[in-house]
Amino acid sequence: MDRIGEIAAKHQLWVIEDAAEAHFARYKGRLTGTLADATVFSFFGNKIITCGEGGAITTEDPELDRRIRLLRNQGMDPARRYFFPVVGYNYRLTNVACALLCAQLEKRERLIRRRREIYRRYRERLEGIAGLGLQPVAPWAEVTPWLFCATIDPERFGRSRDEVMDVLQASQIETRPFFIPIHELPPYVDDRRTLCLPETTRLAATGLNLPTFSGMSDGQIDRVCAALAAARR
Ligand SMILES: Cc1ncc(COP(=O)(O)O)c(C=O)c1O
Repeated sequence: MDRIGEIAAKHQLWVIEDAAEAHFARYKGRLTGTLADATVFSFFGNKIITCGEGGAITTEDPELDRRIRLLRNQGMDPARRYFFPVVGYNYRLTNVACALLCAQLEKRERLIRRRREIYRRYRERLEGIAGLGLQPVAPWAEVTPWLFCATIDPERFGRSRDEVMDVLQASQIETRPFFIPIHELPPYVDDRRTLCLPETTRLAATGLNLPTFSGMSDGQIDRVCAALAAARR
């Protein structure tokens, strides 16, 4: 983030941080939500802290804060009811969702602690399996682990990522592939230039997310790890 901040300052750019699933993670001791001009968080149902759907934006810029509040409330002038100086959106969270979220936030330490335990257990059991790559963690990062991610090197593991997913599915273990990179999605493909991002493409082709949820038991983690280790040829 320091480097991104330097580039943004040099070229007078805004930095918008996508911390969708990184609630309460830290970069060099600083919390997500304080590292950019604006940070977006997700509270979708599969996130660590959730109210089913929706999200939040944090910013310390009063002008941006005013603008965001205006746009999310259909563009209605806060000083004049039912007067709309701009075209806005209905991006409000309902009170019911907020009540759920308040309860989730009260439990945040327990929820995050369990995610960290799940992450550690997965790591301990999967480290050292040839052909299985685990996510590196930078020394400055204090992660709030969301899904447990691994990569499959087909040569060394003896199966492709998709084959491993099929093998696990046969044992009723659902996994997900890594996201398709943005620059390969139709709305963002730019015919005027070809982006070559080999590392991104490699990760997208070889990465899978293992089952991860706060209520997951140690036994369930061990079952996933045993099935994954047995899938190697
Ligand atoms: C990095 C990242 N950004 C954005 C999103 C989308 O969040 P939402 O479903 O709240 O729109 C996700 C969802 O998983 C995500 O992982």
